[in-house]
Amino acid sequence: MDELLTKKENAIYVGNEKFIPFISEEKIQLRIAQLGKQLTEDYKGKLPIFIGILNGSFLFLSDLIRNIELKCEVDFFKLSSYGDKKISSGNVKLLKELNADINDRHIVIVEDIVDTGLSINYIENLIRMNKPASIKVVTLLAKPKSIKYDVKIDYIGFEIPNEFVIGYGLDYAQKYRNLRSIYILSEGKN
Ligand code: IMP
Repeated sequence: MDELLTKKENAIYVGNEKFIPFISEEKIQLRIAQLGKQLTEDYKGKLPIFIGILNGSFLFLSDLIRNIELKCEVDFFKLSSYGDKKISSGNVKLLKELNADINDRHIVIVEDIVDTGLSINYIENLIRMNKPASIKVVTLLAKPKSIKYDVKIDYIGFEIPNEFVIGYGLDYAQKYRNLRSIYILSEGKN
């Protein structure tokens, strides 16, 4: 088994699929600082709960809340992922419920990426049943051409093309989440 991340000319090779650098660590951090500033302004005087969708959002959520200059709380839902595939199965399974009581609370759902919108749609419906004071959605990445569900995304880090990406929390068969920047599947093979 190859335990090393195989890098050649800054590309990451997964078998014979080539992922090339797409969004640098610096760009990610700069954009998160902007989002944090915006959220700090928008939630002044409130005590929001940031709800991360595991696993993909764990890095984004941890960097985002360190850019929020307000008291806030954090909780998590866990959903099943795509497994070893690069496309959505069209099903979601809830693997972990929230612990917080969200009735009458201001909720900010934190996603790594909105692809079809299925996960956000599912989570929003679950949250709405508990009658929160408000719900907003922040995602680091969105693939606007891929969205199939009626979802409103309030804060978007980057709009990206309808291609598979890895790194900064995003996985391919559970791996590559630990890359500091985001890589995109390139047409060309090695
Ligand atoms: P959706 O439910 O189709 O919107 O997909 C959202 C979830 O699918 C994300 O939270 C990710 O876990 C996963 N996902 C979607 N696109 C990608 C991708 O390009 N790379 C890695 N994971 C992805």
